[in-house]
Amino acid sequence: MALPDWTPIQSLPAAKLTDLFAADAERLSRLSVDVAGIHFDWSKTHLTAEAVSAFAALAQQMDFAAKRDALFAGEVVNVTEGRAAEHTAERYEGAPESVARARSQHERMRALIDAIEAEALGPIRHILHIGIGGSALGPDLLVDALGRDMDRYDVAIVSNVDGVALEDAMDAFDPQATLLVIASKTFTTTETMLNAQSALAWMAEGGVEDPYGQVVALTASPEKAVEWGVDETRVLPFFESVGGRYSLWSSIGFPAALALGWDAFEELLEGAAEMDRHFRLTDLAQNAPALAAFADLYYTQARGCETRATFAYDERLKLLPSYLQQLEMESNGKRVTAEGEAVTYPTAAITWGGVGTDAQHAVFQLLHQGTHLVPLEFVGVIEAGDALAEGHHRQLLLNMFAQGAALMAGKGHEDPARSYPGDRPSATLLLDAVDPRTLGALIAFYEHRVFVNAVLLGINPFDQFGVELGKEMAKAADKGGLEFDPSTNDLIQRAFGA
Ligand code: F6P
Repeated sequence: MALPDWTPIQSLPAAKLTDLFAADAERLSRLSVDVAGIHFDWSKTHLTAEAVSAFAALAQQMDFAAKRDALFAGEVVNVTEGRAAEHTAERYEGAPESVARARSQHERMRALIDAIEAEALGPIRHILHIGIGGSALGPDLLVDALGRDMDRYDVAIVSNVDGVALEDAMDAFDPQATLLVIASKTFTTTETMLNAQSALAWMAEGGVEDPYGQVVALTASPEKAVEWGVDETRVLPFFESVGGRYSLWSSIGFPAALALGWDAFEELLEGAAEMDRHFRLTDLAQNAPALAAFADLYYTQARGCETRATFAYDERLKLLPSYLQQLEMESNGKRVTAEGEAVTYPTAAITWGGVGTDAQHAVFQLLHQGTHLVPLEFVGVIEAGDALAEGHHRQLLLNMFAQGAALMAGKGHEDPARSYPGDRPSATLLLDAVDPRTLGALIAFYEHRVFVNAVLLGINPFDQFGVELGKEMAKAADKGGLEFDPSTNDLIQRAFGA
């Protein structure tokens, strides 16, 4: 496949945002979309009808429609690993045989949840979930966003190999009442296996007679989990074709399904499926993931933006920026095309962000007056998460709206230090509520946006070879078999002695 031609995008006239609004009374309706309880507004970005057409033409050039069909049909879209990418089948939108397999795996998960609730594994009150990357970030986001009123279980998601993280969780839990959940697609990840071993030892030391009897494994390598000692009845498998960072819909979502309840998990899947259908069936000019990707690509390819930031104006979504970092950067942080040819243009922007209004008092100075142009995304929620009478939520949302307006409008001043250049873009996502259905749709939106970006960039979003080298070197260093450069050798010597 030929490399994308960015010339039509780079040749688009660079009008100011305020002028774009003045020139087009339809701008807001043209550039906003409502799907699955989420209002998307790209009118404060530099997208125009002309830009959307140019991107739609590029999508055609890059065979986008066929590639999207291939994704949903379970064809091999992860070409470097020779695999399908079947996260949509997990929410029952995909090839019929994959959907049927996903349903039966979900049934198995549900049956185990029922058994745990019936106390078949003892009086479980704590869920200690151990996993890293895609095996932790999704469950963590779900439990943190939706679990505020949870009363039956305490959940800790431990990822870091730094024992401090595990000790914090163990200190808070009673081993007798703890379910140890080991989440690892490969069941070989060093951090996870070490944490799992230590947690098991803690349970044994805490007097649990059969610690393995309180272990559940979530994995695409069930045989390895069994070999490790997990009873086959408590191994919840998922498919190799579900990527780690796309896996929260599979058995990796188990702690959320257990702690929030099965109905909530089903609603999460339904919300995602609604976004899947929107993505699959809607014309690109009104297609939320496509419009978001068009804006992303406009700023990287035509404006030279190297980063993009998401600010969640809602404490319940505070983990969203870190979730997105893995989803976007591990997927599209690539330097060769799917066919292995070096790209001649930037790929994924660096994803970063934080929580509003805190971020306003920390990083927004640069966003308003710094020399970098950073496209922003605001994510807010209409329904308040708090019940305080003093209008906190109103203040929160007004702040978010004001930031978008101020970034765009700017403000001149005779003193340059007090002048705001304006014309700084932001998109706004306004959710009706933070509930399982809306959150499912939101996460699926981000997944599909990554896919559109990848197709137009000509890259494979589903592999992650870039994370391997450092892991291999750490393993080799642990075995003592590797000589490094003088600096690294010196650091090892300082830390561990000879
Ligand atoms: O190091 C990156 C990575 O491979 C991610 O892609 C993945 O989500 C994470 O490690 C954890 O892998 P696993 O689920 O196999 O333990």
